Amino acid sequence: MNRTVQEVPSAAATSATMVETVSGGWSRRAFLGAGVLAGAGLLMSKDAEAKKPETVTENRVVQLPAPDRNGGKPLMACMNARRSTHAPGRKDLSLDDLSAVLWAAFGINSESGKHVVPTAMNRQQLQVYAVLGNGVWLYDPKSHALRQVLAGDRRSSFDNSGCILLYAAPDSDRFAGMHVGSMYQNVGLCCADRGIKNCVKHQKHDALDAELPLPEGWSVQIGHSLSR
Ligand SMILES: Cc1cc2nc3c(=O)[nH]c(=O)nc-3n(C[C@H](O)[C@H](O)[C@H](O)COP(=O)(O)O)c2cc1C
Repeated sequence: MNRTVQEVPSAAATSATMVETVSGGWSRRAFLGAGVLAGAGLLMSKDAEAKKPETVTENRVVQLPAPDRNGGKPLMACMNARRSTHAPGRKDLSLDDLSAVLWAAFGINSESGKHVVPTAMNRQQLQVYAVLGNGVWLYDPKSHALRQVLAGDRRSSFDNSGCILLYAAPDSDRFAGMHVGSMYQNVGLCCADRGIKNCVKHQKHDALDAELPLPEGWSVQIGHSLSR
């Protein structure tokens, strides 16, 4: 079933799970679970939206539900359905949608730690950010989780779509364009499977580069706007 914000239980009704935060500067432990999803603002009520902070005061981490790796339409049907919608709209994605598209972009599909997309010499030098109504989040493929890196609704820096994915890579990597192309094609096919409107967008793709925690010499190579 495709969960929606309304169907997720309240914090009081859900026992939070203590998990280790992951590497790469995630120095805190975080309580995960639907309660924290609500606390982190991924599942925002109108009230919460009005009170959302403008700065990140702690590392907020949201565990994504496991993607369904055996489901979906046949690959040929997805290729047949893939299409750009230039103005996808402002409707948020569900957590299940986010889980699916982020896994399609850069998820891990092997015990060896390899990803759904191939990289030259298996360098894996890629990052994916999700620009959502409640902030900008960095995808961690190892834990299949999101860590908030910027607060506030930054979607107007792009085309105001419900969710904008940003694909980042080192500028010096001559394979960067190929790698992000693999990511946006996987996501496009995943969107075709799930009926998510989407469009790869070069325009404004670097609007947040000065604020994102990009490694030295990296930049956002292209954006991908999505909406239900
Ligand atoms: C690398 C790349 C950059 C693109 N940049 C934009 C863009 O900035 N704005 C936009 O509206 N569409 C953009 N598109 C979408 C193309 O216009 C679209 O893919 C093309 O019209 C073909 O349509 P289709 O994807 O439905 O086959 C881009 C597509 C690619 C692959």
